[in-house]
Amino acid sequence: MCGIVGYVGKEQVAPILLDGLARLEYRGYDSAGIACMENGTIRVNKAKGRLQVLSDMIDGGNAVASTLGIGHTRWATHGKPSDENSHPHMSQNGKFAIVHNGIIENYSEIKASLMADGVTFASETDSEVICNLLEKFYEGDLLKAVKKTVDTLEGSYALGIICHEYEDRFIAVRHASPLIVGLSEKGNFVASDIPAILSYTRKIYHLGEGEIVELTGDKVRVFNSDLEPVIKQAEEITWDVKSAEKDGYDYFMEKEIMEQPRALHDTISPRIDDNGEIVLDGVHLTREDIEGYRRIYITACGSAYHVGMVGKYIIEKMTRIPVEVDLASEFRYRDPIVDDKTLMIIISQSGETADTLAALREGKQRGARILSIVNVVGSSIANESDDVLYTWAGPEIAVATTKAYSTQLSMMYLIALYMADKLGLMEKEEIRTLLASLMQVPELVEQVIETTRPQIMELAKQYHQVEHAYYLGRNVDYAVAMEASLKLKEVSYVHSEAYAAGELKHGTISLIEEGTLVVALAGCHRVIEKTVSNIQEVKARGAKVIVVTTEDNTGVEKVSDHVIYLPKVKELFLPSVEVVPMQMLGFYLAKERGCDVDKPRNLAKSVTVE
Ligand code: F6R
Repeated sequence: MCGIVGYVGKEQVAPILLDGLARLEYRGYDSAGIACMENGTIRVNKAKGRLQVLSDMIDGGNAVASTLGIGHTRWATHGKPSDENSHPHMSQNGKFAIVHNGIIENYSEIKASLMADGVTFASETDSEVICNLLEKFYEGDLLKAVKKTVDTLEGSYALGIICHEYEDRFIAVRHASPLIVGLSEKGNFVASDIPAILSYTRKIYHLGEGEIVELTGDKVRVFNSDLEPVIKQAEEITWDVKSAEKDGYDYFMEKEIMEQPRALHDTISPRIDDNGEIVLDGVHLTREDIEGYRRIYITACGSAYHVGMVGKYIIEKMTRIPVEVDLASEFRYRDPIVDDKTLMIIISQSGETADTLAALREGKQRGARILSIVNVVGSSIANESDDVLYTWAGPEIAVATTKAYSTQLSMMYLIALYMADKLGLMEKEEIRTLLASLMQVPELVEQVIETTRPQIMELAKQYHQVEHAYYLGRNVDYAVAMEASLKLKEVSYVHSEAYAAGELKHGTISLIEEGTLVVALAGCHRVIEKTVSNIQEVKARGAKVIVVTTEDNTGVEKVSDHVIYLPKVKELFLPSVEVVPMQMLGFYLAKERGCDVDKPRNLAKSVTVE
């Protein structure tokens, strides 16, 4: 999510850090900062806004007399974009400075305990606990203090750490958040992403899970989480800068599809505590509030609206509160029945979509309580909502959303379970079991990517010349079909439509002819027989049929040309795994057609006009 770069060596460090951070600018950020060792003390310069603001503060880095430092570009998660929340963070007594990428899940408890010891905090971030833990644990042995600190942390983190007692070395740690080490004659580097250091060295190695690295100008020592030495083999990077930005993938969309297990983990895991209880930071709905709602509106645009369509099934099923899903552009002009007995759930990746923001304001003016699901901290929608839940998907660069959709969807489960729990509609044990299944979704998504990707690449080769495609499904399969169809059309320019499978024979079936591509989503067990009948109807008219279903439904092979099998999953969580091969189908088909996948024609990432 955030960008990290660190260097120690013979060169003046600040210009190197600024240059490295500039090479990560393409990912998006809201503030930047560096911490350098200068004459035995740690000097921190940081500022909200563009990197240029930081650069101007320190004369392009020339004003900092140092050869050791760490730098960071922040994409806000905990706490709005501001000077105080920018990294690096310094411990209370100025002994440690850190940069952090990831999410500390147990930061509230750590913060409370440090505050009870008299530590004061300067920011709202989860990260600031790290430098204060280091200061607390440091007794003259830097590596031991680092180990004690990381043993206390839960969550994901890549860290750069400097300590005021060491002018010649710094430490970096990797846990569930990527970090690389770069080696050169003139000094050594760490970075969250290869492009940050590519103009200085191509000799790198990837740190493994839990590894801790100590860097000096001419030596790099790597340890495992028990501080035992690890021997690493350096590799030579042959990618150019453009490929490096995409982690070696050809497109950001592909990279972002692959990032979904991590994004889902970061979004779900901190919301479920060790006792299996849901913790929705930023949501203050009481049982009385929820009991008072006569209806829920979910309002959004595009893919976020499709998340809402799945959300309707989930929330109604679990809470028995009626849910209406509305396109924001329609809601705002249709005189909706909204009052103070209405909860509005607003979904938006960017938090700036003009129609969604207008719908929010319309609802608010009529008395609704606004709960938003947003990916960009401090965005307009987040600022104007009563309750905000952030998806921690990280910056999404490809115009077509993938990881934002998936993380928004995971929020729907959490909200539904949260409300059902508050209302006392489900046994605690049942909720815990469902939460345990939700926690497995990131792994399942990883498995689906691995197992279905080669087949989907083949299918994309076979069908990339089609002119039309129809996506069918019933119940939640239909809601996912809507997103699957949008993914295909927006990036590949193939005309595509999604239909509730039972609706087909009321008109659209007249379009099916020899060779028409039909993708049938048939994961939903309760209605699979019905969906299979609809598949037979199109097959009989010459359609080429790809069926997506779970591995226990082998019977569909008789009525299809191809079957994409998914692992068996609780029906509730089916949409989360079903959407992933559909994103890949859209992507690989568009790639086969030579489309500009990351920037499809006529589309913008954030639609800030009506
Ligand atoms: C499609 C896509 C769009 C967005 C829509 C809403 O892949 O990305 O349909 O979902 O423009 O954008 P946000 O979520 O930023 O409000």
